Amino acid sequence: MIREITDLQARDLRHIWHPCSQMKDYEAFPPIVIKKGQGVWLYDEHDKRYLDAVSSWWVNLFGHANPRISQALSHQAFTLEHTIFANFTHEPAIQLAEKLVALSPPGLHKVFFADNGSSAVEVALKMSFQYHMQTGKQTKTRFLAFTDAYHGETVGALSVGGVGLYNEVFEPLLLDTVRAQGPDCFRCPFQKLPESCDAPCSHFVEEQLKMHHEEITAVIIEPLIQAAAGMKMYPPIYLQRLRALCSQYDVHLIADEIAVGFGRTGTMFACEQASITPDFMCLSKGITGGYLPLSAVLTSDQVYNAFYDEYGTMKAFLHSHSYSGNTLACRVALEVLTIFEEEQIMDMIQRKGQQMRQLAMEAFGHMPYVGEYRQVGLVGAIELVADRQTKTPFASEERIGYQIYQQALEKGLLIRPLGNILYFMPPYIITNEEMTFMINTTKETIEQFFKDRGE
Ligand SMILES: Cc1ncc(COP(=O)(O)O)c(C=O)c1O
Repeated sequence: MIREITDLQARDLRHIWHPCSQMKDYEAFPPIVIKKGQGVWLYDEHDKRYLDAVSSWWVNLFGHANPRISQALSHQAFTLEHTIFANFTHEPAIQLAEKLVALSPPGLHKVFFADNGSSAVEVALKMSFQYHMQTGKQTKTRFLAFTDAYHGETVGALSVGGVGLYNEVFEPLLLDTVRAQGPDCFRCPFQKLPESCDAPCSHFVEEQLKMHHEEITAVIIEPLIQAAAGMKMYPPIYLQRLRALCSQYDVHLIADEIAVGFGRTGTMFACEQASITPDFMCLSKGITGGYLPLSAVLTSDQVYNAFYDEYGTMKAFLHSHSYSGNTLACRVALEVLTIFEEEQIMDMIQRKGQQMRQLAMEAFGHMPYVGEYRQVGLVGAIELVADRQTKTPFASEERIGYQIYQQALEKGLLIRPLGNILYFMPPYIITNEEMTFMINTTKETIEQFFKDRGE
């Protein structure tokens, strides 16, 4: 249904430049003004509701306007909202650091707080680099990153990204990064099945490490899912291989768990599935259940100790953000972790993951134009292809995913795609009924879309 543009939409468009958007698109498709949220639902100014199947950019875990989190936030706001975090501290940050260390892979004992995912990536890159400068390894000045990687939009994070859409235009500004071909299970060059894979593709990164290890300070990877590239999933064995290679070649491993941490893949952190400890683990997004920006970088005593000395040695890590360790965000994150403990959330994710897989396989398993339905934990992705046999993608200019997204919105479903990949990353509290609505509406929308194209 085409509606008149509302006053709020007109005022939005007068001044606001939206993220990750061609603003001209908004002429035909103005921003949807959301006035409230409840559970998995967002309500617009006409009271139309949308099921938030993407957890509002992968941050929401326990529903919008979650009473328990809102209460904790409100209470904290009346006590202490924020304090400078150099030379000062507060109990929510202390407790949060303790809990994060307890939950993380063994050996990560130190927590550095920042305020969004990209900043966490910058922190990890800088810490790794400075560590090597201070431990006599001055040749280690480059990072190794993967094709199709995504680590954020600041210049350092973009330098280790591998999605051309975001970083190509900035190429002259970016760090000189060594690039290795990443895992690509859907179009596996070795024709392996993920269940029986021994990660022969790790040989691509091995070659680069063999050649460049003396120059490389760290390898950065998104564990188990290259999310922004289109929810590209790969098995834990790849991470095990990579961990071993990094140790062999004396290179740090940075696990960017920003999208996959906090239960998304079925374990608290994706690295757990490979039983590995990275040298740095970056966390953000779900850490506050979608309430406030916060991020954390966890690292080892070995890294920490290389910075620990008399002031005059100038070895300190002098990185800071005004909102480092924000009290409200830390208090909310604590509540999120308490909900995990008290409400058996990991069991819930397992159960709902199985249910989603079953429903989705029935709906999409044999559908024309669906090259693959893949899933890890509570992340499911439908890869639309022009030809199922050859796995030929649709031309990106056709914007198939974008059109389906718009049509699904009409039906009350928010599934913002990544190119021609539609995905589900719902809040963990999604009910059976809501999940059925999410899958069925997606199926109907895809079918209708191709029918209308005359296919
Ligand atoms: C794996 C990964 N790393 C880093 C980021 C950047 O986080 P932020 O958008 O909070 O800067 C993202 C965001 O999508 C991400 O998926």
